[in-house]
Amino acid sequence: MSILEITDLHATVETPEGTKEILKGVDLTIKAGETHAIMGPNGSGKSTLAYAIAGHPKYEITSGSVTLDGEDVLEMSVDERARAGLFLAMQYPVEVPGVTVSNFLRTAKTAVDGEAPKLRTWVSDVKGAMENLRMDPAFAERNVNEGFSGGEKKRHEILQMELLKPAIAILDETDSGLDVDALRIVSEGVNRAKENTNVGIMLITHYTRILNYITPDFVHVFVDGRVAEQGGPELAERLENEGYDRYLTAAN
Ligand SMILES: Nc1ncnc2c1ncn2[C@@H]1O[C@H](COP(=O)(O)OP(=O)(O)OP(=O)(O)O)[C@@H](O)[C@H]1O
Ligand SMILES: [Mg+2]
Repeated sequence: MSILEITDLHATVETPEGTKEILKGVDLTIKAGETHAIMGPNGSGKSTLAYAIAGHPKYEITSGSVTLDGEDVLEMSVDERARAGLFLAMQYPVEVPGVTVSNFLRTAKTAVDGEAPKLRTWVSDVKGAMENLRMDPAFAERNVNEGFSGGEKKRHEILQMELLKPAIAILDETDSGLDVDALRIVSEGVNRAKENTNVGIMLITHYTRILNYITPDFVHVFVDGRVAEQGGPELAERLENEGYDRYLTAAN
């Protein structure tokens, strides 16, 4: 039973105008099997939270803690975090020229597990996962994200998650830019992972439509660098109808 605990997390970034605090005391706990939707206005710090947990060097943690099963995540290098069971699907996945999807997945799997996957099962695992996500097998030999459409990049993120089997997955706007069919396919991938590996999920999204496919246990409203309110799925409906006005006035 994995548990990710974020306590009073503060983080800053260096900008041309000086040091700017973006995370201003985030408290959030995610347990195995739980799905937490994070919703909030543009620029409120959702991606920064995702990056801070994953260990992006641009963001300096000034106070607070992040632990995974009691282990200090902030003390770990980026690859130690991955080995510990953290996974981040980025809002804007990066291109990796010269590295094929197939090589990338095998290298990542080897790094995360500490040993190379057994060739025979691995090949069929990859094939099966790609079929489930309705990805053309030809993608395996293409360079990671190079020339991928927006929706293809997002499917590739879910492919990684299904194969790497993290304990806790952070999905940063994995639903953005998906057509209705892709949204369903990607959501099915997330639900499969939940069923098969009991992964805990932080689902950053702007849209309630994905929550029709992936039922969140908790919804958190993220405003001005912290969680302003939390509730159940009904909170997402209210946000859809009312927007963030009531929080923004309170924050300013
Ligand atoms: N490297 C950086 N340099 C300067 N400012 C930054 C940097 N990274 C983040 N910020 C600022 O921090 C704030 C939070 O950004 P972040 O990307 O976390 O927001 P977000 O909630 O994910 O927004 P969106 O919903 O648009 O994805 C923004 O005002 C952004 O401009
Ligand atoms: Mg973002």
